[in-house]
Amino acid sequence: MIHYQTKKWCVDNSVGNERLYPQLEEPAKLLALNEVVAFPTETVYGLGANALSSSAVCKIFEAKGRPSDNPLIIHIAHRKDLDNLVLALPEKAEKLMDAFWPGPLTFILPRKEGIAPEVTAGLDTVGIRMPDHPIALALIEKAGVPIAAPSANRSGRPSPTTAEHVQEDLEGRIAGIVDGGPTGVGVESTVLDVTMDPPMILRPGGVTKEQLESVVGLVLLDPGLMEEEDKPRSPGMKYQHYAPQGEMWIIQEETLEKQQETIRSLIGQAKESGRRVGVLATEETKHNYAEADVVVICGAREDLATVARSLYDALRSFDQQRIDYILAESFPSKGVGLAIMNRLNKAAGHRIYRAEVD
Ligand code: TXA
Ligand code: MG
Repeated sequence: MIHYQTKKWCVDNSVGNERLYPQLEEPAKLLALNEVVAFPTETVYGLGANALSSSAVCKIFEAKGRPSDNPLIIHIAHRKDLDNLVLALPEKAEKLMDAFWPGPLTFILPRKEGIAPEVTAGLDTVGIRMPDHPIALALIEKAGVPIAAPSANRSGRPSPTTAEHVQEDLEGRIAGIVDGGPTGVGVESTVLDVTMDPPMILRPGGVTKEQLESVVGLVLLDPGLMEEEDKPRSPGMKYQHYAPQGEMWIIQEETLEKQQETIRSLIGQAKESGRRVGVLATEETKHNYAEADVVVICGAREDLATVARSLYDALRSFDQQRIDYILAESFPSKGVGLAIMNRLNKAAGHRIYRAEVD
């Protein structure tokens, strides 16, 4: 593995495109030279490489330690870039692109030849999205090639929502990082398979099932997603993911009060056996866990978008504070709550503490 002197460019994304371009000159040139560069999107930071070059794409897998059977999403800056990448565009996909692009929605489509085979991991489909972030769009345009980009974390770790998270995981392993400040959505894009009808969500994310259905009617959810035993259709969803180092449990009870009660009693038991206990809580509930070693506030329940935005930083902070036992509150699986619960489940390795029903 090559050791890189990882470069960093701080870019203020509140300026207009003309002013972004000079700052993105060097990272765009590195991408065009088949190097890997991390950059912000509206969801999480991505680790980009030229999607048409095998040697470039291989560097992504190497830097992340990513299994080679897990395909990457290609990021484009213009709809016309689809012409070189996909064989056909179903009508429902077009409608959804009109409604949600640029934005956190990835389409699985039949692919054309010419894409580096490592991007699609041997599948005859490809995932494509247009990110809703001025830096990402300007960088892709300037590089002049479609950009394959997974989340810019080491494989298995929580996805990065700041440039510091990327540095933590990939410093010395990649050519550079474009720092555009914290990302907004906080969970990754929704992955939607539009090669079938009705379309199927393979990974819940920033665009909700409800939003998709308001445009194209019925949308299915991969039944293999939430259950540990079933096989998810998207290769990436089978891997342990987002996991903090401590043992993590999700607490599910019928009411919020009962949930807090159970967490308090589990804190008591864990403290007795000498563990360092952390709780993933919210603005509304943070005062209830005085006995825990650390209480991490992950947004506010009244607005689940704030929970999504803080989720990965919250998971990372348990490691920074050397917590070995984590108790997480659970959230309603509606709207963006579906993505939040999917990521929490994976972070906890599907350890769910459920209410006893009698
Ligand atoms: O928001 C996002 O989507 C971020 C930012 C950087 O754009 N990217 C991201 O990429 O989350 P990654 O590589 O961490 O996750 C891509 C997911 C994986 O679960 C992968 O298996 C799935 O998309 N995927 C990619 N191509 C696929 C295909 N052809 N068929 C099924 N699933 C696919
Ligand atoms: Mg990822």
